Amino acid sequence: MIDIADITKEVETLLSGLTFQNTEDLKVSLLGRKDGVLTSAFRALRELPEAEKRVVGPQLSALREKVEVALKAVLDQHADAQIVDLTLTAIPCETGTLHPLTQTQQELEDIFKRLGFVSYLGPEVETEFYNFTALNIPENHPARDMWDTFYIKQRNTKGERLLLRTHTSPMQVRFMQQHKPPFAVLFPGVVYRHEATDATHEHTFQQLEGLVVGENISFAQMSWTFETVLKQYFGSQTKVKMMPSFFPFTEPSAEVAISHPDFRGGKWLELLGCGMVNQKVFEAAGYPKGKYTGFAFGSGLTRFAMMKYKIPDIRMLSENKIEFLKQF
Ligand code: FA5
Repeated sequence: MIDIADITKEVETLLSGLTFQNTEDLKVSLLGRKDGVLTSAFRALRELPEAEKRVVGPQLSALREKVEVALKAVLDQHADAQIVDLTLTAIPCETGTLHPLTQTQQELEDIFKRLGFVSYLGPEVETEFYNFTALNIPENHPARDMWDTFYIKQRNTKGERLLLRTHTSPMQVRFMQQHKPPFAVLFPGVVYRHEATDATHEHTFQQLEGLVVGENISFAQMSWTFETVLKQYFGSQTKVKMMPSFFPFTEPSAEVAISHPDFRGGKWLELLGCGMVNQKVFEAAGYPKGKYTGFAFGSGLTRFAMMKYKIPDIRMLSENKIEFLKQF
């Protein structure tokens, strides 16, 4: 025998006293496995004749649903309240900053962007073709000794020899194979050299390569670009000088050094190599002979950071000492 009116009354009374604190107790009193009011009623239901079961069953189910909804509402309300609990003590957290090299790259890219340059990234594991051959440095040519190279034992699927790129210049031909001039592009990235390290040399460092190609690009435009960018980045007191140099992929070639009174007492620091793109490189990229001119440069991004932030030793940039990094 189930007195549904009685059970309903009992459930209603219990629910009327429901608070967040007593949800667990109420749940046990109503739905507890052993002698919850509703659990016992459902147990008794099994003994009823079929006809009565069909009437009382749905009434009990409706009551159980009502209880579940009420319990859930109280719990949900409390969960929302927790999210905006203004009485909680804030957990102190330290904010990080971008690595000085990242800051340098972004600042320089911003300056170049204003002159119309766009950036592209390329692979660090390169083929001999893009790193050397396409840049007018044939196999067994002594010019390859300009870069002490880390070779990789495995070859690629075409059987080509692989290496860790020694400069960002391989992106020149990769890019030109896919794009028609005119364009002004930047290729930032990490490069690797089998070199002994000292205060201004690392075996792994970052370069920022630039390439500008069109029908009438001149040496004067190149030199104006450096003067403009370097003075914007380092300040108007910066002195910029160009010295003749040699790179197999540019003709003529030059080296750019800068001096700033605040850095190493104004001592000149070599910052980048540059030149007018050698026609042989245009040929390797598949451009028609003699149609285009352009200039290219490869700068040590790491050296930019050293000068800008007056970092005396290049190795500090890769040691990841927290005291050092906190200053930026
Ligand atoms: C090159 O790597 C040429 N690819 C640059 C270039 C590009 C010339 C396009 C012409 C046209 P170089 O080996 O000189 O050149 O390196 C370029 C710059 O990288 C240097 O001026 C210097 O700032 C920086 N650099 C070179 N070696 C190191 C090193 N071991 N550690 C840190 N920076 C370096």
